[in-house]
Amino acid sequence: MTRSNTVALISPKGGVGKTTSTFVVGDLLATHLNLRVVAVDANPDFGTLGRLSGARRPSERSLADLLDDADRIKTAAELNAYVSREPSGLHVLAAPHDAELTASLGPDRYGELVAFLGCFYEVVLLDLGTGVAGPLARFAVERADQVVLVTTPEWVTSSVVLDALAHVKHDRTTVVLNKSILKGSDVSAVEERFRAEHLHRSVTIPFDAQLASMLDCGRYTLGGLGRPTRVAIKRLGLAVGEELA
Ligand SMILES: Nc1ncnc2c1ncn2[C@@H]1O[C@H](COP(=O)(O)OP(=O)(O)OP(=O)(O)O)[C@@H](O)[C@H]1O
Ligand SMILES: [Mg+2]
Repeated sequence: MTRSNTVALISPKGGVGKTTSTFVVGDLLATHLNLRVVAVDANPDFGTLGRLSGARRPSERSLADLLDDADRIKTAAELNAYVSREPSGLHVLAAPHDAELTASLGPDRYGELVAFLGCFYEVVLLDLGTGVAGPLARFAVERADQVVLVTTPEWVTSSVVLDALAHVKHDRTTVVLNKSILKGSDVSAVEERFRAEHLHRSVTIPFDAQLASMLDCGRYTLGGLGRPTRVAIKRLGLAVGEELA
């Protein structure tokens, strides 16, 4: 890699797995590719990324605190107090607890944040809120070196996801079909729908209650998952990894 890369994880739909994908991709890039990675909760509406942390001492601070203090932070060691450091090496930067404060941060402030984090991390993952057309999502897509669009297979059959893709228009886009209960040829059929859209890749992640419960109690490990989910997450990590510039 020649510079810091920003990856925006977005969706037109809520609850499909943006935060989950952010966390598992961050974990994989940190462990398997040994990259310095920070996952940022850029969901302006009660983001949940910080709650997935399995860090022994999760940071109480948020990205708003970091923005306030950025002028004074000169070293990675000083920055460490603002992030939760996962056992995998992934760092997680939480959203403020105060949703009004978060809502007051516009794209400019997130721009400052991404520029600042780019001095310390090789990869900055932005876990966005629902929607692809709002100001923050638009900023993130424009700013990002690559986009991961998350959806569930049944949404593919509606036109919403394809409409959203038309909106996103990024050269490097990976689609995640999460919580899939499809089998064999149905997976290929759904993935086929995206081939025509000139996407970098589409990756299907099975519905997996174990994944959800591991994340829920801050005990996520890739190795602890069953093979189908593990392989799917590795494919997603690889798809993102090979597009790093
Ligand atoms: N592959 C999966 N199998 C089973 N459950 C999953 C899977 N992926 C995510 N989940 C669960 O679905 C719920 C929603 O996931 P997540 O929070 O990642 O979605 P989101 O798109 O970030 O939601 P929001 O729109 O609220 O930000 C969580 O409880 C999560 O653990
Ligand atoms: Mg989320």
